Amino acid sequence: MQTGLLHLHGFLPFIFLLLMLVVLVQNFLVWKSDKAFTRSLARQNRIAVVLTHLQVTIGLIILFVYRRQLILDMGNLTSNKAIRETYLEHPVIMIIAAVLITIGSAKSKRGTTDAEKAKSVVVWFGSALVLIAYAMPWEKFLTRAGA
Ligand code: HEM
Repeated sequence: MQTGLLHLHGFLPFIFLLLMLVVLVQNFLVWKSDKAFTRSLARQNRIAVVLTHLQVTIGLIILFVYRRQLILDMGNLTSNKAIRETYLEHPVIMIIAAVLITIGSAKSKRGTTDAEKAKSVVVWFGSALVLIAYAMPWEKFLTRAGA
């Protein structure tokens, strides 16, 4: 179970990051042109939100179930750079990013015009993606990809 969740949390970002980029470009085009905010685009936005929540849920399980000892050792958690980055900064920043994505999705649903709906996604998902790019453990992630 633990290994499965760790693998899933490490692999899911491949799909998630790709989808985020696709969704951002598509919403940007709707925002800046006369293109329609289609049901298919709304569905893709929703899938991005679901993947975000899935990633957060798995992350929380890993953190509080399998790495509990690490986060209970406050001294080590704050003084050891590698531990702090992975088990404190990464989770906190990713949760903030997930909140931004959730807000963006809610605002998009409440938008009255197609451009307004798309703009909310671009602004909120885009800001979240900057945070995600910052807090991503790129070395581990790219090692998985064999880069
Ligand atoms: C969009 C959100 C997130 C992304 C894209 C993401 C991505 C990743 C990646 C790529 C790794 C490296 C996995 C590996 O070793 O191959 C990782 C590790 C980790 N993530 Fe996340 N993460 C996200 C959110 C979270 C959240 C919200 C938490 C906790 C609340 C969390 C907790 C962890 C932990 C504890 C590890 C280290 C696992 C270990 O001990 O090996 N992550 N994350």
